[in-house]
Amino acid sequence: MAERFIPLVDWRQTNASPSIPSHLEAPTGLLADTLARPLQDLRISITDRCNFRCVYCMPKEVFDKNYPFLPHSALLTFEEITRIAKIFVAHGVHKIRLTGGEPLLRKDVEKLIAMLSALPTSDGRPLDLTLTTNASLLARKAQALKDAGLQRVTVSLDALDETVFRRMNDVDFPVSDVLHGIEAAHNAGLGPIKVNMVVKRGMNDQEILPMARYFKGSPFILRFIEYMDVGASNGWKMDEVVPSEEVLRRIGAEMPLEEIDPNYTGETAERWRYKDGGGEIGVISSVTRAFCSECTRARLSTEGKLYTCLFATGGHDLRTMLRDGRSDAEIASTVAHIWRARGDRYSELRTANTDLTDQAIRKVEMSYIGG
Ligand code: GTP
Ligand code: 5AD
Ligand code: SF4
Ligand code: SF4
Repeated sequence: MAERFIPLVDWRQTNASPSIPSHLEAPTGLLADTLARPLQDLRISITDRCNFRCVYCMPKEVFDKNYPFLPHSALLTFEEITRIAKIFVAHGVHKIRLTGGEPLLRKDVEKLIAMLSALPTSDGRPLDLTLTTNASLLARKAQALKDAGLQRVTVSLDALDETVFRRMNDVDFPVSDVLHGIEAAHNAGLGPIKVNMVVKRGMNDQEILPMARYFKGSPFILRFIEYMDVGASNGWKMDEVVPSEEVLRRIGAEMPLEEIDPNYTGETAERWRYKDGGGEIGVISSVTRAFCSECTRARLSTEGKLYTCLFATGGHDLRTMLRDGRSDAEIASTVAHIWRARGDRYSELRTANTDLTDQAIRKVEMSYIGG
């Protein structure tokens, strides 16, 4: 059983309000941080709740009935989310991903999607609007999501074996419902659909080959993700990480692979394809080959804090600015100021210094900040 995590401080409360620059500036769509990384993606967590208790993300022992999930009043409203998103899009964001928790648990999520899909980008290119889901509600919601303007979905699935999958999600959720969800999303035209599998050694690594075989030749792009030391409650250990190199070796021995070019600069996944034409897979090597040098992602937490890194210890409170009646120009200038000062590269530093995994660093939970 995982060790119980007793919060001494609620890390969600420890963030200072950002200072508003005295000189206000209009967004140009060309922001860059201290490492010359542009601001291109916004990942928005729309709920900190989930109906799964994946062992690597929301372990049951921590996220139990006493866990202080956010009250509804703390959540950004759809209008507030859309207002912030519009500012980010003016700053150059081209991709918005809704995450959680489980984003489909948020009531009327399709209304939010309709609001976001109407946002104009800084250069007229269409916005890539997508969502990461555990697919438990996808079969029911796929068509409404598509009709609202969602372009694609990414589904988390950690195993095909019923026993292993139920042990991973820890709420006895059946594999078949996830597969039906993927099918429904495909039929609704929510593609290209990616399937994300977090690999944890000793837990589901025996599922690497069955998953690869199952999705080979399908329209779905399977991606293997290295288990990360995110959050403060999953009790991460390096020896539970299966390096992508090993994943590729295991698959390649049975089904030969060759590497292909990335779709875009800063893509999280390295892309590989089957030499026999059986389609592509991806590996996301956040631990063994960190990709911070091209990280263009900003994250907005469920309660409206801006995080400039998945592993940040604090966020910048934009919700107070919204609720205090600050203008778009003030918020946009504040965001510009924060992004220009950004120097985060946690995963690269961790690779260089394993002491950084020390639990003394209070990192925020992925279910709160958004995967
Ligand atoms: P595409 O737009 O389809 O390329 O998706 P994506 O790979 O950008 O996003 P997705 O949510 O599918 O990310 C897959 C996984 O990669 C996440 O669940 C994380 O495990 C990991 N990941 C995504 N972004 C970051 C990041 O900024 N830092 C780190 N360390 N890991 C990340
Ligand atoms: N390591 C890697 N990925 C994680 N996710 C959540 N926790 C972790 C972790 N510890 C990602 C997975 C999952 C998505 C919701 O968040 O990709 O599919
Ligand atoms: Fe929920 Fe996704 Fe976290 Fe699993 S990984 S507990 S499905 S948010
Ligand atoms: Fe970006 Fe931080 Fe992830 Fe590095 S660790 S890729 S800087 S979010």
